[in-house]
Amino acid sequence: MRLLDLSEYPVTERRVLVRVDFNVPLSPEGDILDDTRIRACLPTIEHLLDRRAGVVLCSHLGRPRGRPDPRLRLDGVARRLAALLGREVRKLDGVSEPEVAEAVAGLGPGDVALLENLRFYPGEEANDLDFARALAALGEVFVNDAFGTAHRAHASTAGVARYLPAVAGLLMARELRALQRLLEDPERPYVAVLGGSKVADKLPVLENLLPRVDGLLVGGGMANAFLAADGHAVGASQVEAAAVREAGRFLAKASRCGKPVGLPVDVVVAEAIAPDAAFRVVGVDGVPEGWVVVDIGPETARRFAETIATAATVFWNGPLGVAEIEPFARGTEAVARAVGSCRGHTVVGGGDSLAALEKLGLTAAIGHVSTGGGATLEFLEGKELPGVACLLRKGEKT
Ligand code: 3PG
Repeated sequence: MRLLDLSEYPVTERRVLVRVDFNVPLSPEGDILDDTRIRACLPTIEHLLDRRAGVVLCSHLGRPRGRPDPRLRLDGVARRLAALLGREVRKLDGVSEPEVAEAVAGLGPGDVALLENLRFYPGEEANDLDFARALAALGEVFVNDAFGTAHRAHASTAGVARYLPAVAGLLMARELRALQRLLEDPERPYVAVLGGSKVADKLPVLENLLPRVDGLLVGGGMANAFLAADGHAVGASQVEAAAVREAGRFLAKASRCGKPVGLPVDVVVAEAIAPDAAFRVVGVDGVPEGWVVVDIGPETARRFAETIATAATVFWNGPLGVAEIEPFARGTEAVARAVGSCRGHTVVGGGDSLAALEKLGLTAAIGHVSTGGGATLEFLEGKELPGVACLLRKGEKT
């Protein structure tokens, strides 16, 4: 895929509509808990400002389902962006209203505006063409820098590209390059570490990675289905029969392909998923009835870390245990440390994995930290992302 990116497209003194993913985590009081996604778009915004473009930014925040929700307005995001850029960001209180078009027409070279939350409008998620046309009227060029939302076929990620020349932003291009490297010609040995709770979400990724990797390591809630498929009792841990069947089918396929799948050999079990619950480490054949598996055990963490240390390429997505509860975060932390000190090319995606790296001060040690959650997984499943499919290829007429 040879996309045309912003660095190759003329934007000097033009008005540029930029889709960003400023869907940041908020505290109950509405404070921004992590501004990584805002900072990740700064290179694109600064590139445009250096060329005296007028920058019209648009994003969603949360899932307001087509109706205004005062808690999800983008005013706080605009203030954070202004502080990071060190210049004024004009927050506009709408998207498709005539006043917004008027305000945007008044923007000069080097001005930055941010529209209101796109998902306050039903036309956004419906990929409504009138809504897409109203958005497109706000720029002469469309730049998609919202990699995190590229798996959605919405008006601002796909529809708008029908009406404007559409190019990849610098973050979008960087994400695609880093993830492409995991699918094509990765350096070997190549290891993928998958955690998290939902087997159904991760299995398609495991399937697509299987022929490409030299080994897989599986932990987190999803590992219970694999352990059950492998004949181990997992106590009161939640496992669906369908997930166990799928996990069993996958393990058989991996074994036919000669690809090792590392499963936990010991686990942390707890009486309940609660911070004050009693817990202990047991072998995978010793999970007491009525207890829940909440983390990989220390021996598993040691083996996983050993495999990661010798890898030339590592992809990690998902916590290895219930990492939001302090005593059950050890396995995730051990993997974070191992990935952080691996000398190979490392790529990490998913909010919980990133939170673990951040907590340990290891984010800077990672080769590529993906801003995508669902988008990263869908890309690695081999799916074409609608927000990427609509962008111009090199040599294509603009
Ligand atoms: C994300 O956080 O994964 C993206 O911003 C997409 O959000 P969504 O899952 O609400 O579409």
